[in-house]
Order: sequence, then structure tokens, then C-alpha cells
Amino acid sequence: MNIIIFGPPGAGKGTQSNFLKEDLKMNQISTGDLLRNELKKESELSKQIRNIMDAGKLVSDKIIYDLIEDKISDINIKNKMIFDGFPRNIEQAKNLEIMLKKHDQNLSKVLNLKVDYSVLIKRISGRISCPVCKSTYNEYFDPPPQNCKENKMIKRSDDNEETVTKRLKTYDNETLPLLEYYKNQNKVINIDAMKQIDEVRKEIKGVLKD
Ligand code: AP5
Repeated sequence: MNIIIFGPPGAGKGTQSNFLKEDLKMNQISTGDLLRNELKKESELSKQIRNIMDAGKLVSDKIIYDLIEDKISDINIKNKMIFDGFPRNIEQAKNLEIMLKKHDQNLSKVLNLKVDYSVLIKRISGRISCPVCKSTYNEYFDPPPQNCKENKMIKRSDDNEETVTKRLKTYDNETLPLLEYYKNQNKVINIDAMKQIDEVRKEIKGVLKD
């Protein structure tokens, strides 16, 4: 089973993907994380990527395909993939289908994390991650455990209010239309992502067992 975890910035895609790794032994493919890894390289390309991400816009499809193709062709994670943050427009969705077909796979479901936009700024502005264990926590909703608290927590450079507002606009204009695209394929399952983190986890586990 390959699934997409879908929703606006701060909906909880990364948080719930991590649980799916644990609960169903699936493998998270996060284009955001792959891009942030590229940023560590300090190349001309990484400068371009950083500018686009900090402006809250989408990185070019070509860059994304180059990052993702290796993953889709990896036999060790075949039919056990969670796409987090990909696809982000119709063009990417069509390309995902082509790439999956090429490797004799398909897409089973799209989990749509439904949240009110009013909570997103607070979720994102409170997001912190541990530099040692790499886990993501939240200053307001999900404080880190004691052993992580001793480390200096990291904040993402695109997690400021100005960039988040732009990311939400990009989501509305370019990514949200994908929901209709997948509804027409009967693949969408709505998840109430306003609930507490553990409750959302239970709901997702439940729908994926059916
Ligand atoms: P990306 O890294 O994918 O960011 P995003 O889609 O904006 O999503 P986030 O990571 O902000 O949110 P999330 O839904 O994963 O929330 P999380 O679980 O962390 O992309 C970043 C940028 O890269 C893009 O803007 C773009 O420039 C570029 N990019 C990436 N993919 C691309 C693509 N395919 N094409 C082109 N460009 C691309 O949770 C957030 C916080 O809330 C955490 O602190 C968490 O603890 C907390 N939280 C989670 N769930 C709950 C809950 N139920 N209740 C309370 N708090 C909660």
C-alpha cells in the first residue's frame, strides 16, 4: 500500500507519518525533508532552493522529481511508501502515477488531514525539533521529553508568520485543487486533524486497517 498524506502546512503530515513508520512499518518520503537535506550542501542550487522555500513558493517540479525518483525505485520500500508533501500540484500528481507505474506500483489512498486554518499559525510557530534525535515537538501542544529538553531546539527558517501566510496561499492556489483530482479517483479519506495528536493517530490507524 502506498499512500499520500495531504493537508496544509502545519496540519500534522510529518507528525502522523512518523507514527505510520512505527505503527505500520511504512516509509516516509517527505519532499520538504529531502529539500532541507539539499540545503546542507551550500551549493548554487541549494541557495536557489532556500530562496524559494523562504518565499513560501514551490520548488520546480524537475528538482522534486530528481529527489524522489530514487526513492520510488527502491525495491526495499516498494508498496510501503507514505508521500508527505508530494505531490503539490496536478503536474506532480500525474508524474507520480507515471513513476509508480514504471516501478509496478500504484497509489492506494489519500489521507486528507482536515484542519481549521485558525490553528495552523500557532502549530507552526510552536514547532521545534531536537538536533540529536531529530523528532519534532511543539512548544504549546507537544513538549519534548526531558532528555531532548537539554538540547538547544531547532526552528525552521520558513516557520515565521510572514512565510507561513505565503505558504498557505500557495497551498490554496496550487495544492488544494489536487483534492478534487483524487476525489474523482475515489481515493480520499478525510481525517479530523483538529483532534489531539494521539487521537488523530488512532483514527488513521483505524482507517488504514479497513
Ligand atoms: P514541507 O516541509 O513539506 O512543509 P509543509 O507542507 O508546509 O508542511 P509542514 O512540514 O509545515 O507541516 P506538517 O503538516 O508536516 O506539520 P507537522 O506534523 O510538522 O515543505 C516546505 C517547503 O518545501 C514548501 O513550502 C516548498 O517551498 C518546498 N516543497 C516541499 N515539497 C515540495 C514539492 N513537492 N514541490 C515543490 N516544493 C516543495 O506539525 C506542525 C506542528 O504542529 C508540530 O510542532 C506538531 O507537533 C504540531 N501538531 C501536529 N499535529 C497536531 C495536533 N493534532 N494538535 C496540535 N499540534 C499538532
